[in-house]
Amino acid sequence: MENERKNILVLHGPNLNLLGKREVDIYGRLSLEELNVLLRREGEKLGLKVECYQSNSEGELLDRIHGAAGKFQGIIINPGAFTHYSIALRDALAGVDIPAVEVHLSNIHAREEFRRVSVIAPVVRGQIIGFGPQSYLLALQVFK
Ligand code: DQA
Repeated sequence: MENERKNILVLHGPNLNLLGKREVDIYGRLSLEELNVLLRREGEKLGLKVECYQSNSEGELLDRIHGAAGKFQGIIINPGAFTHYSIALRDALAGVDIPAVEVHLSNIHAREEFRRVSVIAPVVRGQIIGFGPQSYLLALQVFK
């Protein structure tokens, strides 16, 4: 039945709206819209209903996480630079009872020192990082 499909919220953090144009050697040439199409399509195949949302604003991401309670059965989040310092995002994820997966396009451990810390990691089920858009697609598998 249609309404038995799990609802998965994909959250893209700051600067990910520039995907495909921004530092393409690191993040690739796929645009955010193209990535979202892939995610929704892969979700269909796995029996998941995928909703994608991007914001450059920490507050809007917090509101989406709070609003996900009771509506979504899983969250996939690429917190962008917020990964490295947003205690507020970490607390929001810890505060809703929804399993979350942290994803990154790049391997944050192979880059600058400041990217090696994720304040989000302790409150998610796990991280999938370094596989470009595939990081997100692999994360969908967690919820199938
Ligand atoms: C990123 C890694 C972050 O360090 C960076 O600030 C981003 C993108 C990634 O997907 O590789 O904006 O989250």
